[in-house]
Amino acid sequence: MEAPLSEALSVLADAQSLGAATADRIVSILREAVLQRGGASLALSGGNTPNLYLPLLADEPRLNAVPWKDISVFWADERCVPPGDPESNYGMAGRLLFSRAPVPPGNIHRIRGELPPEDAAAEYRATLATHFGSTPRIDLIVLGIGSDGHTASLFPGTAALASQEPACAVYAPRLGSWRVTLTLPALNNARNILFCVSGAAKAGILKKILSAETRTAYPAGLVMPTDGSLLWLIDSAAGHLLA
Ligand code: 6PG
Repeated sequence: MEAPLSEALSVLADAQSLGAATADRIVSILREAVLQRGGASLALSGGNTPNLYLPLLADEPRLNAVPWKDISVFWADERCVPPGDPESNYGMAGRLLFSRAPVPPGNIHRIRGELPPEDAAAEYRATLATHFGSTPRIDLIVLGIGSDGHTASLFPGTAALASQEPACAVYAPRLGSWRVTLTLPALNNARNILFCVSGAAKAGILKKILSAETRTAYPAGLVMPTDGSLLWLIDSAAGHLLA
């Protein structure tokens, strides 16, 4: 597996400064993409870390720094629940960011978690194909990692890891629930991947993912954009086991 075009790691003192650094990076990548190509695509994840950075994007000075009218929003994954469900990644992003950031409604491409998983995945693949043509080349995908090394909804040991489609439905055994997720072909075709990792609970798995010997044993370690940048933004608690 080729190494990413560029890989970098930045350690922030605490979760708050990690959130600010993540929000700032999102702003600069989106601004650059719009400047270069007149538009930008952004894919978001769920979990807890979005609470650190999404609200910062919804407030000044960052809110006006992003040309939201030129941004197309996708998701790295979605729980197979209706949009109003507390578990919905779309619902969370709506509450934390899009209730304030003026992205045109037609630019928000949610995964319809209320559909049967395979139907939701097929519809999302069609949406991606309409927007990108072949394999999606997303300007920025913001990811997290689970303590089992998953990212998006690419859980260890699932068939989703081998999918050659840009998105698929996946049953998360540990959670006993269905998800729809971008797959490695889509993640590794991104222009920019940004991992945001916070907290001591992630220190062990992060060390394994960032070490060459064990990296590819974990889904998050398989994210190595072939023609894009890979940036790890972590706080010192998550990084305390790194050399
Ligand atoms: C999801 C996420 C998931 C998340 C990781 C990390 O839908 O749950 O996409 O992959 O990114 O579980 O979660 P934290 O943000 O809580 O570290």
